[in-house]
Amino acid sequence: MVIFKHTVDLQSWLQGQRVGGRHTGFVPTMGALHPGHVSLVEKARAECDIVAASIFVNPTQFNNPSDFEKYPVTIESDIRMLVAAGADLLFLPGVADIYPEGLDSLPHYDLGFLETVLEGRYRPGHFQGVCQVVHLLLKAVQPDRLYMGQKDYQQCMVIDQLIRTENLPVELVVMPTLREPDGLAMSSRNMRLDAGQRALATHISRVLYGIRNDLAIGALEWLRSRGQSELEALGFQVDYVEISDARTLEPVSDWDGRRPLVALVAAFLGEVRLIDNLLLTPE
Ligand code: PAJ
Repeated sequence: MVIFKHTVDLQSWLQGQRVGGRHTGFVPTMGALHPGHVSLVEKARAECDIVAASIFVNPTQFNNPSDFEKYPVTIESDIRMLVAAGADLLFLPGVADIYPEGLDSLPHYDLGFLETVLEGRYRPGHFQGVCQVVHLLLKAVQPDRLYMGQKDYQQCMVIDQLIRTENLPVELVVMPTLREPDGLAMSSRNMRLDAGQRALATHISRVLYGIRNDLAIGALEWLRSRGQSELEALGFQVDYVEISDARTLEPVSDWDGRRPLVALVAAFLGEVRLIDNLLLTPE
């Protein structure tokens, strides 16, 4: 695996590789890699000729400065995992490579309704930062396919919208959420949980599976608020437990039995904010 820190070097290497219609798959990450990230790289390896990954802890998407400062960095083990998963290239830029003109006059993206709900509502500016960095990374790598995880359900929708509105020639591939044996969605932030918090964290997925088990046509508020109360009783500080239209993320309070649904949770254990989601209806 080759590692590039600067966009120009990355691009000239890729130009040499992209001969005879070879396809490039790209997996953007913020590092502190776990098997969830690896599953994206492995899928790209299975489907593409050239597999690129990036590690960049993007300052513009952190609305909470301490979350940015405490974001885990495990670069040596990340490199080992990427090599084992078959990545050909790691792009490891610094802030000045991604944002050569500084952070002050970055583009604004019209994300409409998506930016007003759930993560958009609780993390103002977060999706602007995600679009800024993903757009720049896509311009640098110019992949044919972009691999992302359903773990960040709303992020996938935002990037799908970015691809469509900016007319980017890339196909988004969304991969299922990898979980720990107790159901906790794998996340780089899990490393920041202490033993007690780690034991409690499993309840987020239990609440989601509980909602899926008890889903029935009609009013949904009891199911939503039951989930929220369960988490609060355990000591979580809950941003939201929501049941939404899986295509639009509009909250659904009364289900007709046909609309595709997704349940989504964001909750803090101490300082660590965890998110998870589960499709409630067959795709
Ligand atoms: P990061 O949190 O590092 O995640 C990188 C990719 O891995 C995302 O597409 C995410 O959805 C996926 N992922 C995370 N946990 C997963 C799991 N348990 N199973 C499957 N996939 C999982 O998301 C970001 O970074 C950033 O916002 C980024 C897109 C890189 C822009 O900075």
